Parts: sequence; structure tokens; C-alpha cells
Amino acid sequence: MKKIIIAIDGYSSSGKSTMARDLARRIGYVYVDSGAMYRAVTLYAIEHGMASPEKGVDTAALVNALPDIHISFTPAGNDGIQHTLLNGKDVEREIRDMQVSSLVSPVAVIPEVRHHLTALQQEYGKEKGIVMDGRDIGTTVFPAAEMKVFVNASPEERARRRVKELTEKGENVTYEDVLENIRERDHIDTTRKESPLRKAEDAVLLDNDNMTIEQQMEWLLKLYEDRDR
Ligand code: DC
Repeated sequence: MKKIIIAIDGYSSSGKSTMARDLARRIGYVYVDSGAMYRAVTLYAIEHGMASPEKGVDTAALVNALPDIHISFTPAGNDGIQHTLLNGKDVEREIRDMQVSSLVSPVAVIPEVRHHLTALQQEYGKEKGIVMDGRDIGTTVFPAAEMKVFVNASPEERARRRVKELTEKGENVTYEDVLENIRERDHIDTTRKESPLRKAEDAVLLDNDNMTIEQQMEWLLKLYEDRDR
């Protein structure tokens, strides 16, 4: 079967990463989490004193440091999850914490950061046979992707899912803080100048407020099979 590029975009915590990862595993494709790349750049900025909740992001310093930031992924382990490496170090856990979550959107508005990561993402897609999830995959990174999905759910439902996920990992978070972070990220992601989050015209919309993970997977597989005939 001819290999294609599958772009899955959507709001934060809409469940798109889980869907994208599961789909890639089921059909033997490579999965790339583009959000993890923005998170890794943000972690680098925090660790090098270029970003903090008090001072925000030092854009000039971060842009200068871009050539020193190397991001890669380990192959998926037994749990099916690939880990993000920042300059060779496994940072999969750190990039998911609340500090990174609250600073990642301001980092992701920086055009130079976007250009740098977009080029890297396009490199991954050269051989096709890839599922990539993010905010601008169907619009900017792979506008010619053969299959595009745009995932949405209400902020409240997304906050509930995120609290569950973080609590299971042992993080101490409140529903109100998580909801506020989600609303703030939605706002920054949809209103930024450079590749704002929006549905590509040819993307298929999935509103998953009232769907289980299994139902979403079934829906996605059917879409893939129908396209690939
Ligand atoms: O999918 P995520 O929540 O891990 O993404 C983290 C942040 O990265 C998100 O708030 C916006 C940004 N992002 C982006 O701007 N473009 C992408 N393709 C992926 C993520």
C-alpha cells in the first residue's frame, strides 16, 4: 500500500497524541510528536535561564541558542512510547510538567523557533509513512498531507483529562490551574501571527467530547482505510 503522510492537529489535551501514536502503531508508521519538540526547546530555555514565569522568555538569547539545541526521539519501547531526547538526554518526563506547559506557548510564537522546528519536522516526513501531531501540521508543515484530521473537545473536558493524566504521574495540580493553562494556551495558539492553530480546509473534524479512546481509534482507522483504497 502506498505510504502517505497523516497530519493530526488540534487543541492541547484533546487526545490527539494518543490517537496519533496508536494509529501509527496499528498501521506500522513512524509517529512524531511535534509538540514534544516545542516543549524540549522550552525546557532548554528554562534550564539556561532564558525563560521563567517571572521574566517570560528572552527571545534574542533563545534564537541565538537554536543551533545548540538538538532534538531527537528514541524508538518506541515496550510501552509503545518513544522518548524525547534533548542534546542526547532523555527529557520525556520533564517536558510534560506544568512549568514547561505554562511557558511553551510563548516559546512557540517565536518565528525563528517555528522555522527551525518546521524544517526538522519536514525532514522526518521525507520518506512518508508518518503520523505527526501538532497545531500546524496540516496547514504549514505538510500542507499536501494525504490525510488530515482536526481534533477538538471542550476546554472543561480537556482539563479533566489532563488533571487525570498529571495526577497519575504523581504531579500535584488543581483542576482550576489546569483549565486556566488550557484556556491561555488556546488563546496564544489560535491568535499568534505565525502559523496559528486552525483547521486546514481539507481536514476532517473530530469532536471527541463524548467519545472513548476506542471509539476514536475506530473512527480514525476507518478514515485511514477509506482514504487508502
Ligand atoms: O501538543 P502539546 O500540548 O504537547 O504542544 C505544546 C505546545 O507547543 C502547544 O501549546 C503549542 C505548541 N505547538 C505548536 O505551536 N505547533 C505544533 N506543531 C505543536 C505544538
